[in-house]
Amino acid sequence: MKLKLRDFEIAYDDTGGSQPPLLFIHGFPLDRTYWTGQTRALRDVARVLAPDLRGFGESRLPTGAVTMETYADDLRDLLDALDIQRAVVAGLSMGGYIAFAFYRKYAARVRALILADTRATPDTPEAKKGRDENIALARAQGTAAVAEKMFPKMLMPQTIAERADIADATRALMSRQPVEGVIAALGALRDRPDSTPTLAQIAVPTLIVVGAEDALAPPKDSEQMRDEIRGARLAVIPNAGHLSNLEQPDAFNQIVRDFLQSLS
Ligand code: MLT
Repeated sequence: MKLKLRDFEIAYDDTGGSQPPLLFIHGFPLDRTYWTGQTRALRDVARVLAPDLRGFGESRLPTGAVTMETYADDLRDLLDALDIQRAVVAGLSMGGYIAFAFYRKYAARVRALILADTRATPDTPEAKKGRDENIALARAQGTAAVAEKMFPKMLMPQTIAERADIADATRALMSRQPVEGVIAALGALRDRPDSTPTLAQIAVPTLIVVGAEDALAPPKDSEQMRDEIRGARLAVIPNAGHLSNLEQPDAFNQIVRDFLQSLS
């Protein structure tokens, strides 16, 4: 489905129905198809929404700078256009950074939060340098070169070695993202604010999920979020790396399902 927002057309999946809305925000460099294993499995308990962020998948990148707030504004516009007042907002990795930005601006629109394989802290100086290197790499050689560099940390080594279907699909998904969207997002990742001060302000039910073997946003980052968000619960998924919902969809879906049911 596509909808015209203020400066671009956003592509999204929407299972429809009268269940409470659940908005999935994908990570980098991915798109909405990343959530396929959740969309179908959770449609009986939620109206599942999964957009392509601007510059990813089938959503074009309009001109102008992009920050985590830009993506958050787009999601607010999407909810407005669909006449949805409140949603459970679920972000993985960069999607989590966007969920923090969304909460800071639009807390009244958040029924609950799901923070998957993400962290509150900003980029270190070294990580910022890495973003600049990846921007240069994307400009010179395209998205596939950035994807190749990042790929070894997206899944746990065992998944890469033994589950060629998941590994190949992930590599392909990363590699096909539009280069201009990837470059814009790398700048937004580099410049994102510290969300640590946001943690104590979160006043909605919060579920934190992380793959036990996540090498990009390790469980200790999740423990920090759990310790600082009032009443937050943390679920660590065994045998999963950074893309925990892709590596262990049944465990991930069960955790999300239990959380959604605890809200009603
Ligand atoms: C993601 O999965 O969204 C990215 O790895 C986030 C990041 O690079 O900080």
